[in-house]
Amino acid sequence: MTKPTALPSYTTEKPCRKPFTPIYSLKQIIFLLLTTFCLFVITLWLRVGENFLLLEETFPLDLPHSADADGSARPLSTPVKSSTGSPSQLSDELFNYRPSPNKLITYLPHSGTTYQFLEIVRALTLAAALNRTLVIPPLRPSPNEENGQNAEPSSWSRFFDLKAFTEQTGIPLMEWDDVYEQLVPEKEMTCVGLTGRHTRTSSLHADKFYKERYNMTLHFEERGLADNPSALAKALNEIDDDLICLSDAFYLRWRLKEQWESIGKYFHYSKELSIFADRITYDMFGVKPYIGIHLRRGDFKKICKKIVNPLARENCWPTLETLQNTVSYIRQELSGMDLPVFVATNSQNPVELRAISELGWKMVDYKLYNVEEKFGVFGRSMVEGSILTKASFGIGTRGSTFSKVAEMRMKDWYGGLSIKLIANTENPGDLLS
Ligand SMILES: *[C@@H]1O[C@H](CO)[C@@H](O)[C@H](O)[C@H]1NC(C)=O
Ligand SMILES: *[C@@H]1O[C@H](CO)[C@@H](O)[C@H](O)[C@H]1NC(C)=O
Repeated sequence: MTKPTALPSYTTEKPCRKPFTPIYSLKQIIFLLLTTFCLFVITLWLRVGENFLLLEETFPLDLPHSADADGSARPLSTPVKSSTGSPSQLSDELFNYRPSPNKLITYLPHSGTTYQFLEIVRALTLAAALNRTLVIPPLRPSPNEENGQNAEPSSWSRFFDLKAFTEQTGIPLMEWDDVYEQLVPEKEMTCVGLTGRHTRTSSLHADKFYKERYNMTLHFEERGLADNPSALAKALNEIDDDLICLSDAFYLRWRLKEQWESIGKYFHYSKELSIFADRITYDMFGVKPYIGIHLRRGDFKKICKKIVNPLARENCWPTLETLQNTVSYIRQELSGMDLPVFVATNSQNPVELRAISELGWKMVDYKLYNVEEKFGVFGRSMVEGSILTKASFGIGTRGSTFSKVAEMRMKDWYGGLSIKLIANTENPGDLLS
């Protein structure tokens, strides 16, 4: 940085000032610091918008799936088969983790389906550090989602192959509904708050849920322990109860990528769900590769509105035009194929849904396939997730964890490529609050 040769000119407007001195006054130093800081903030702000439509990943030049020249010979990916995820890749801690079935840990489920999935992964990280067996609570309807608070909860094994997870990793799991009667015969449970905040709100009416579904009374105890796995484990190790209940696994905001790498990717969709989704995909596209778009709408409307930068806002709430441009880019530049498009969305706007259909993009016909009858209220997002996972190219919505997790599955399991409209935030929950 070159040193300015003259002081700002306001000194010259006062005729009777002391002679020029090269020493900066405190005021000037503060002014300079403030200016630098403002410039820094403005640059950051602009950069958020700049990422718009940038391909975040460096693309390998070959196509993600081997397809014959006409692009039609790609076999349907077999469910449950995974290119990654051999137990030798588990971290030492998880590889050697063989807890007793009598020392257990559970948590209160919170928020939408993707977050509840991440809660399993986070609680499992803690469980391993504590050498306890994880008891997974059921997938619970979230008030944030259309399925509402009153819909039936669902067992996770309906959607994920928990047996295969255990066979592959050696890590035992239990499901709450199978064991709670023996575990909590007295029907009272105390749940420990770990992060020092939201003990009650984080449980999002969990007390009501456990009362209505299990006739159980919950108590909360805020401990406000540290927010990293080893410090938490150290503190929790002092609890000798056979069952520890965590009230706010949701707020353990550990790095998504690491959590995915260490455990998340070993949770594969159940065979039943995969085959069901494959059949819908086959009806839509035959065996052709396709582009998968996750278009998050619903409660994002409120969140996106608050974003000041217009480009960032557009990425939070992309228009169909933006998506069409991205699709064209994939077809022309990346694949050279006229790939069909699948759209997973929670949009309920009939005009928008019609416009999507008119583009020739496919969505799942839930009524036709009786998705809800077969898989309950969560069936729809699970089926969509499974179809997205097998796309050759994925386009996600910024800030959506559903997009993020679908992207990781797609890339890790089947080698698809993802295009983010803009950089995904590590903690979309920050946008929600
Ligand atoms: C974990 O618990 C099991 C069963 O109680 C025990 O055999 C094993 O030694 C424990 N592992 C560690 C690292 O404490
Ligand atoms: C719920 O539990 C209480 C005691 O904990 C018991 O008196 C009551 O009968 C139970 N209700 C149901 C519906 O099981």
